[in-house]
Formats: sequence, C-alpha cells, structure tokens
Amino acid sequence: MKSIIIYTTKYGSVEEAAKRLQKQLGGETELCNLMRERGPSLGAFDTVVLGGSVYIGRVQKRLSQFCSAHMRELLGKKVGLFLCAGEPKEDARQKELENAFPPELLRHAAAKDVLGYAVRFEKMNFFDRFIMKKVSGDSADKEEYYDDRIATFAGVLNKDG
Ligand SMILES: Cc1cc2nc3c(=O)[nH]c(=O)nc-3n(C[C@H](O)[C@H](O)[C@H](O)COP(=O)(O)O)c2cc1C
Repeated sequence: MKSIIIYTTKYGSVEEAAKRLQKQLGGETELCNLMRERGPSLGAFDTVVLGGSVYIGRVQKRLSQFCSAHMRELLGKKVGLFLCAGEPKEDARQKELENAFPPELLRHAAAKDVLGYAVRFEKMNFFDRFIMKKVSGDSADKEEYYDDRIATFAGVLNKDG
C-alpha cells in the first residue's frame, strides 16, 4: 500500500498529527505540506489522507481547493480526512469536520476524525494571539494529540479493501 498525507498547517500541529499518523500507517507513506509544496499527482497512491486546521470556523482554503480540484480522482481511492481543532466540545468539533470537507468526499471517506490540536502563543502572529486570548480567556499554551484516535484512524486505512 502506498499512501500520502497531504496537509495544510499554520503553526505546525497538523504536521505533528500527520507525522504520528505516518508512523502508524503500513507500507510507504509520504507527507506533503500544501503550504510549502505544490499539490502532488495522486496517480501513484492507493490511499490519500487530507488534513487541515480550523481558524474561526474554517479550514485552510488551499486544502478546500485541492479537494475540489482532485475530487474525481479522490473518489477512486481510499481516503482519510482529519482536522486539528481546538474546539473542546466533541459535537462541535465533529460539526467543524463536516463543514471542512465537501459532502461527497465525507461520504466516501473510510476514516474521518479530529486528531488533536496545539495552541502555542509564542508562535502566533499578533492577530491570532489577540483572537485566541479573547476566545480562551487566558494565554496558556495547550497541546493534545489523540493517539488512540490516530491509531484507530490508521487501523481503518490499513485494512484491506
Ligand atoms: C486565531 C485562531 C482561531 C482559531 N479558531 C478555531 C475555531 O474556530 N475552531 C477550532 O476548533 N479551533 C480553532 N483554533 C485552534 C486551531 O485550530 C488549533 O490551534 C490547531 O491545532 C492549529 O493547527 P495548525 O498549527 O496546524 O494550523 C483557532 C486558533 C487560532 C490561533
């Protein structure tokens, strides 16, 4: 099985989740950061995982554009979809996941979940720090990666068929 994890990230937490997932996926798994690299051609991959993070309710436009541009090809592959999102309520997080990807891709995906988040104030630009302080009411760094969910996510993609 040849896989690729294609992701968008602003401060690196999606990349951390992608690396944890990469370790759990069987076979050969490449990483592609869409913020730095052009979208790859998908022909060589059996499994494609797409991941992004949520800012003020929305996932990165670059990820949405990649999904739309490659929809037909993606629907012919095994697909996993994930987010990093700081929203603490599980139902609200799942809603963010449903809003982040096109409905047909969500229906097709074998695995989809929120896999963690990180809030690192020293990394943020002024605007993001200001918003985050207002929303969270403090300026404490937080970081959580859901390794159990990452393992389940990988387990589904590693299954045959
Ligand atoms: C300015 C700002 C706005 C955010 N808005 C949301 C949001 O609407 N919903 C959410 O679940 N998380 C929100 N987050 C949390 C991020 O999704 C979280 O920190 C994520 O891990 C960032 O991933 P990245 O570093 O890979 O970009 C926000 C974070 C910042 C800094």
